Amino acid sequence: MAGAGISTPSGIPDFRSPGSGLYSNLQQYNIPYPEAIFELEFFFHNPKPFFTLAKELYPGHYRPNVTHYFLRLLHDKELLLRLYTQNIDGLERASGIPASKLVEAHGSFASATCTVCRRSFPGEDLWADVMADRVPCCPVCTGVVKPDIVFFGEPLPSRFLLHLADFPMADLLLILGTSLEVEPFASLSEMVQKSVPRLLINRDLVGPFAWHPRSRDVAQLGDVVHGVERLVDLLGWTQEMQDLIQRETGKLDGQDR
Ligand code: OAD
Ligand code: ZN
Repeated sequence: MAGAGISTPSGIPDFRSPGSGLYSNLQQYNIPYPEAIFELEFFFHNPKPFFTLAKELYPGHYRPNVTHYFLRLLHDKELLLRLYTQNIDGLERASGIPASKLVEAHGSFASATCTVCRRSFPGEDLWADVMADRVPCCPVCTGVVKPDIVFFGEPLPSRFLLHLADFPMADLLLILGTSLEVEPFASLSEMVQKSVPRLLINRDLVGPFAWHPRSRDVAQLGDVVHGVERLVDLLGWTQEMQDLIQRETGKLDGQDR
């Protein structure tokens, strides 16, 4: 399970960290209160702040960091059952984890839907408008086209239901960089069997790790990159990690040229 804290080392602010989090820096987005950026009612009143955020998260603008590549390495080693992420920055995909292994629980910019006629569009169709600070409109009915990011009160993507099969099968749950404050995602942490160890790598002690820990819970508190590097070291994978990162960043450098 992952949240915004795995992407702060890539330079993307999280939501709730005091001072640096998006919810403490509303001026640049011109929104009246933090959650407005993900509320339909506000979006219909003024979609611009949300599209300012979309522009910021344009694919290629930010790169995966050690944490994403650690998850990619777990996948390469066939140890990753599934990655459930709340993040909408697309960095899990960018690290090379295939879509079949991902549940992007709060949606992504990869597709979009007209808010009026409900037609679906590939995310790329919107980028020219978003980059030019124009609100994208439906070519058929002129309604505003909204990227398929899950707003408050909206249902989660149907793939989220995979948790019903995945969580009882897991033999280790990693929880990385999330405040575990947003439901229904947060409650996934309770869905592994009681005997299954849960490892939290996060700055703060959050959710059930704070209020009803289980006997096999482990919390590695502090910077997520530091915590991941420590785990990788204990696993004896440090060299492999470095090789993977070098290979993958080389590919991204190639794309930039
Ligand atoms: P939050 O901002 O609520 O929590 C991020 C957590 O990561 C906090 O506990 C931070 O202390 C921790 N953190 C940040 N940087 C870190 C670092 N470098 N090392 C270690 N820990 C770090 O983000 P989420 O839990 O992902 O909804 O928020 C959940 C949802 O709330 C988001 O998906 C978003 C928002 O409303 C949508 O995007 C629809
Ligand atoms: Zn339409």
